[in-house]
Amino acid sequence: MTAPFDRSLAGSIADALGKSAPERDGAVSPQAGDEERVVESALRPHSLHDFIGQPKVARQLALVLEGAKRRGRPPDHVLLSGPPGLGKTSLALIIGSELGTSVKITSGPAIERSGDLAAMLSNLAPGDVLFIDEIHRIARPAEELLYMAMEDFRVDVVVGKGPGATAIPLEISPFTLVGATTRAGLLTGPLRDRFGFVGQMEFYEPAELQQVLRRSADLLGVELTGDGSAEIAGRSRGTPRIANRLLRRVRDYAEVELDGRVTREVAQAALALYDVDVLGLDRLDRAVLEALVVRFGGGPVGVATLAVAVGEEPNTVEEVCEPFLVRAGLLARTPRGRVATEAAWHHLGHPLPRGGALISGAGGAFGGGTGAPTTPGASSEPLFDA
Ligand SMILES: Nc1ncnc2c1ncn2[C@@H]1O[C@H](COP(=O)(O)OP(=O)(O)OP(=O)(O)O)[C@@H](O)[C@H]1O
Ligand SMILES: [Mg+2]
Repeated sequence: MTAPFDRSLAGSIADALGKSAPERDGAVSPQAGDEERVVESALRPHSLHDFIGQPKVARQLALVLEGAKRRGRPPDHVLLSGPPGLGKTSLALIIGSELGTSVKITSGPAIERSGDLAAMLSNLAPGDVLFIDEIHRIARPAEELLYMAMEDFRVDVVVGKGPGATAIPLEISPFTLVGATTRAGLLTGPLRDRFGFVGQMEFYEPAELQQVLRRSADLLGVELTGDGSAEIAGRSRGTPRIANRLLRRVRDYAEVELDGRVTREVAQAALALYDVDVLGLDRLDRAVLEALVVRFGGGPVGVATLAVAVGEEPNTVEEVCEPFLVRAGLLARTPRGRVATEAAWHHLGHPLPRGGALISGAGGAFGGGTGAPTTPGASSEPLFDA
């Protein structure tokens, strides 16, 4: 069996970096590359007013901050959780600027020893914001130190070892901890409970992404028409980071090949070149869906079989492709294996198989695997290899 394309680099890069989860590279990756982080900082909103979308989190946060300002006290500790690229770091920095205080930035993996954290905490000025990105990856001893710091603005620094060790209490300035996490489920209960405000970030609506794109186009000096921004927004998977990245790619195309103006036609041509389709699927997503629909008659088929069919690792298919395919209502995970929804057949332009009760896939609501559909042409592949 020949794979339709080479194994993506995502898995091997993840292996090389020792990351647990495989990551996607390319145009629709939700993660930012190192160079991209530099570009991104230029596009970050700097105030709540500039921050687009997330109406619930933004409104609640505005109240928390305003209340604290009126009382003249630092606000409650804030936890921002949600998928990559939705604006957690941007909001954390905005909290600092709205409060008019400085933000000290670190990340869970960077805090290896509790001493590192104690030093950082003792250097905070009153009212400072301490931003810990990827807070779910903080080392356990540091996390325990953080409990006391968050609650009592105090840490115990242990001096010496063994029976002679003494804990010296150290006062720290009242501060606000802002934690960000893409994996809220990995946070321990005690840490989670110490946040007074938890903001759950949601994917953006296309109209909100259009606003993000308009703002970014202004900052980048790109002429972007309304239908051009609609075209890009529709392919951005509900994620501002992806919208901004696609805008930059389309701008390159427009400037190099044409007059620099980004219209619908220009966006379509450029994104076709980058293999990003109208729903924001890339080559790997389409290959997975195509294999499911064409080779396995729509499923059900186990993820391991599906992965072999596209020449990928099962966990790459499962963790990199499937979440969006499920969210887009194109693929369902059922107890018997993966199943293409009716929307998937439509999207790929294949006629629906006759006589089968397909999952409709409308809005991606599958109600926890309510029975696998009977799909004609189901393959002879084993159903339980997932
Ligand atoms: N609400 C928004 N309004 C305007 N731009 C936004 C918004 N949210 C995100 N962005 C843009 O998307 C980019 C990515 O956002 P950000 O870095 O804050 O995401 P994140 O949630 O911290 O991602 P990660 O989990 O990877 O750290 C930013 O450069 C910013 O320009
Ligand atoms: Mg971030």
